[in-house]
Amino acid sequence: MKKEEWLIKGFADEPIDAHIDLIKAINELKKEKNAVIMAHYYQTGEIQDIADYVGDSLALAQWAAKTTADIIVLCGVHFMGETAKILSPDKKVLIPDFNAGCSLADSCPADKFGKFVKEHPGYTVISYVNTTAAVKAVTDIVVTSTNAKQIVESFPKDEKIIFGPDRNLGNYINSVTNRNMLLWDGACHVHEQFSVEKIVELKAAHPDALVLAHPECKNTVLALADFVGSTAALLKYSINSDKNKFIVATESGILHEMQKQAPHKTFIPAPPNDSTCGCNDCSFMKLNTLEKLYNCLKYEYPEIEVDAEIAKEAVKPIKRMLDISEKLGM
Ligand code: 13P
Ligand code: SF4
Repeated sequence: MKKEEWLIKGFADEPIDAHIDLIKAINELKKEKNAVIMAHYYQTGEIQDIADYVGDSLALAQWAAKTTADIIVLCGVHFMGETAKILSPDKKVLIPDFNAGCSLADSCPADKFGKFVKEHPGYTVISYVNTTAAVKAVTDIVVTSTNAKQIVESFPKDEKIIFGPDRNLGNYINSVTNRNMLLWDGACHVHEQFSVEKIVELKAAHPDALVLAHPECKNTVLALADFVGSTAALLKYSINSDKNKFIVATESGILHEMQKQAPHKTFIPAPPNDSTCGCNDCSFMKLNTLEKLYNCLKYEYPEIEVDAEIAKEAVKPIKRMLDISEKLGM
């Protein structure tokens, strides 16, 4: 197939020999090309299992900044690949499927956000990592769900802050830091979907279970939670807890690592409003497959590129976040 057709499809759609051992072939290609595979916790279990690093968005950025590999294959969504490329501009950054976007990043177009920022002079702009490079370029400091609270608290109480794009995370940080940050009205289609009624039903059916929720969930869901935290924080909490059963209100991919680290515990995915599957998958994250990962490494396609002018500005708030996180021991 021609490259123009790959471009239309968004990935290297080449037939793969049915007899090939994909895991072995991916590992060989990785070695041959000095490539590293980094996967977010929301990837499929088989991608998480073959990755060199599996983590949340903060960890992925930290690893991308430090790697000595020539190629980074970022098994996650587009903004994660962009962040890796901005931090490691000399590396080739690949993503198995270029269509792996993010509804939250899409809810914050750079032109509109830039206008909003201009309309509020004197405000410090804090943006969640789930944004395009162009939004980061008009941002003072980037945060992830792991460090958002601590970074916001590193500013004086009376600092005027714009926080974008996730209104749920923003509201949550406002409540736990007792602030009144000005919020962009964006949201993630996965985390907004969790059903309060179904979680209440699950709690009644499993009175011994704790509810764990990501701060991108609506406040009505967070109100039901015994613990609120980033993907990595939910994982850590569930592993260290003396409790054995958890209802998990975040993308279902994290259950793979939870179950791996605590095989004797029970993890129940919190259901979304309109689904019969009982799980909650990010359709973007799950576009990446083992087959696409193999072709991506083999053909070194699709590659993430970031405009040099945008990257020059976007790197500053990302590095600022990494520096503060390091000082905070994160
Ligand atoms: P984390 O910061 O927990 O990795 O979250 C990223 C994300 O995309 C949540 O939907
Ligand atoms: Fe974006 Fe939501 Fe998917 Fe996370 S789960 S990548 S915020 S769409």
